[in-house]
Amino acid sequence: MPDRKILVTSALPYANGPIHLGHLVEYIQTDIWVRFQKQRGNLCYYVCADDTHGTPIMLRADREGITPEQLIAQVGEEHLADFTEFSVAFDNYHSTHSEENKALSSLIYERLRDAGHISSRTITQAYDPVKNMFLSDRFIKGECPKCGAADQYGDGCEVCGTTYAPTELKNAVSAISGAKPVDKDSVHYFFDLANFSDMLQEWTNAGHLQPEVSNKLAEWLGGGLQQWDISRDAPYFGFEIPDAPGKYFYVWLDAPIGYMASFKNLCDKQGLDFNDFWSKNSDAELYHFIGKDIIYFHALFWPAMLSGAHFRTPSAIFAHGFLTVNGEKMSKSRGTFIKARTYLDHLNPEYLRYYFAAKLSAGVDDIDLNFDDFSQRVNSDLVGKVVNIASRCSGFIAKRFNNKLAEQCSEQALFHEFVSANEQIAEFYEAREFGKAMREIMALADKANQYIDEKKPWVIAKEEGKDTELHEVCTMGLNLFRILAVYLKPVLPVLANNAESFLNIDAQVWPADAKPLLNHTINDFKPLMTRVDPDKITAIIEASKENLEKTPEPVKAKTCEPIADTIEFDDFAKLDLRIAKILKAEHVEGAEKLLQLTVDIGDETRNIFAGIKSAYSPEDLEGRLTLVIANLAPRKMRFGVSEGMVLAAGPGGKDIWILSPDEGAQPGMRVK
Ligand code: MSP
Ligand code: ZN
Repeated sequence: MPDRKILVTSALPYANGPIHLGHLVEYIQTDIWVRFQKQRGNLCYYVCADDTHGTPIMLRADREGITPEQLIAQVGEEHLADFTEFSVAFDNYHSTHSEENKALSSLIYERLRDAGHISSRTITQAYDPVKNMFLSDRFIKGECPKCGAADQYGDGCEVCGTTYAPTELKNAVSAISGAKPVDKDSVHYFFDLANFSDMLQEWTNAGHLQPEVSNKLAEWLGGGLQQWDISRDAPYFGFEIPDAPGKYFYVWLDAPIGYMASFKNLCDKQGLDFNDFWSKNSDAELYHFIGKDIIYFHALFWPAMLSGAHFRTPSAIFAHGFLTVNGEKMSKSRGTFIKARTYLDHLNPEYLRYYFAAKLSAGVDDIDLNFDDFSQRVNSDLVGKVVNIASRCSGFIAKRFNNKLAEQCSEQALFHEFVSANEQIAEFYEAREFGKAMREIMALADKANQYIDEKKPWVIAKEEGKDTELHEVCTMGLNLFRILAVYLKPVLPVLANNAESFLNIDAQVWPADAKPLLNHTINDFKPLMTRVDPDKITAIIEASKENLEKTPEPVKAKTCEPIADTIEFDDFAKLDLRIAKILKAEHVEGAEKLLQLTVDIGDETRNIFAGIKSAYSPEDLEGRLTLVIANLAPRKMRFGVSEGMVLAAGPGGKDIWILSPDEGAQPGMRVK
């Protein structure tokens, strides 16, 4: 019987967007830890699911003209494909929109209600009279009451950083329909978190959390616990509350229950005992890997919900920091908001797994992906140190000894040193100090290379009567490589697998008492990893750069936008507006919204990308006159450089009209 029974989760990614490199910090971190546990012989299950409920998913489906069910099915497949190619190996990947989750959410709600932890009252909220739905803060837009910036959301201004209530926004409108919101009353259901103050006070200080996380929670607990609003009104994509028709569970109520639901689904498939892991007296361990932004939900609401509903609470919550790229927040315009798929189109996923491992610790510090550092580490550690050992030794074994390892090795001290490092490395993996584990492993790789440098097989290969020595040195080199490969296996499962095929051995378990592999036939060596191609990195960044194709806000009702702030005549005079003749209009391969226009502005022709494809076919445009801003700084886009802007008006979609002067106007005339 294995020593430990462990259930591990990663946070459930939202089904309203693609997996990006930020997400992957978490899924790769969790996967490494799970692979390590399995390799150690523990019984360990890793479950996850798509987080499918809530307003954004409902609205996106609406916009795409499909049902939310169709949307989440499609996104779920894409997510799982991305994870699989990054070798993130879930034992089960499910969905929060599932029967299991519905049943468990109802069960937990009913238990909480019956124990007196749910109350209801009427609240007043902003309501969209056109869309007939309540608007949460993020769906209300207007001008910042402090700095006047336009298009700011209901909870705070991105320009000046002020936070405020949505009622304080000037000229507030619904971000969905553009209509002016009205106040409306509705009954909401609340989870009385304050009933769990004592329980949480104790739980958050009982070693289930990282020290910096418990400190943060002490602050929150000190501030008193508010009731948590767990209901949303129809229309909402989610589960209807059993005893409250027309009311739905807020997505964050059923999301963590999705961990249980995914495991329940696995139990049903594999005949496992659900209660063994979730009942109050379970002797299994339960760990949740999460990002630091969702600590509140996991370290307060979740343990309270579980304990109030008579389930076990987590053994620990492991929070990690956020990914930055080249020292800054991921940014679409800089091309550093990189989708998992874009990365996979160009680079080996194991590079990233290694790089993250090398940077990860048990803390919540942010981690930075710096592409120069990335290439340098992968090239020098993996290609230059680890793989190099195998390539340096395998040639002689193949050519001189018919791929057979020596029958014995005289010097085994180094091999023993490699094996006895296993305890320290295991401790680092167990404690999620992956960076330290990688440093330890690379220090061993340095020693293996030194050994080969000292023995100089390429020299003894040329000397008479040194066959045995050559054979033994190369055999030892490959045995050292084998131990490095097994230590790296949680991080680099593909490389480790290929190493096993090359060495012609079974899948390696943790090498607590490994013996050298002797008198054994191996296979021909094939390069196990190549250097990072810098052109591929450039290609990833280029492919990730946002072009002028902004995702349009859905416009359902045509409303007049408020008149913008007054400008001075001098500001106007800065605009060089010209009459232009559209000489050529073409589709742009790969662009959903753009047309490429060649326009004559009098003395010159310009290349302009215009986001008007939804309203015009190229043939409608050729030969027409329009207006362009001729002195707009050229902008580099994914498809080329845009040298100006065509003026058009309208809410979007089919409703865009380019401005055209009357007959008689000539290209190049300036607007005055
Ligand atoms: N759906 C919720 C989680 C529900 S769990 C019951 C959610 N989804 S998410 O897609 O926004 O994020 C999924 C996980 O990825 C979270 O743990 C989040 O912290 C993590 N990350 C998202 N962006 C990240 C970075 N840029 N860097 C590191 N982790 C990031 O939250
Ligand atoms: Zn502001």
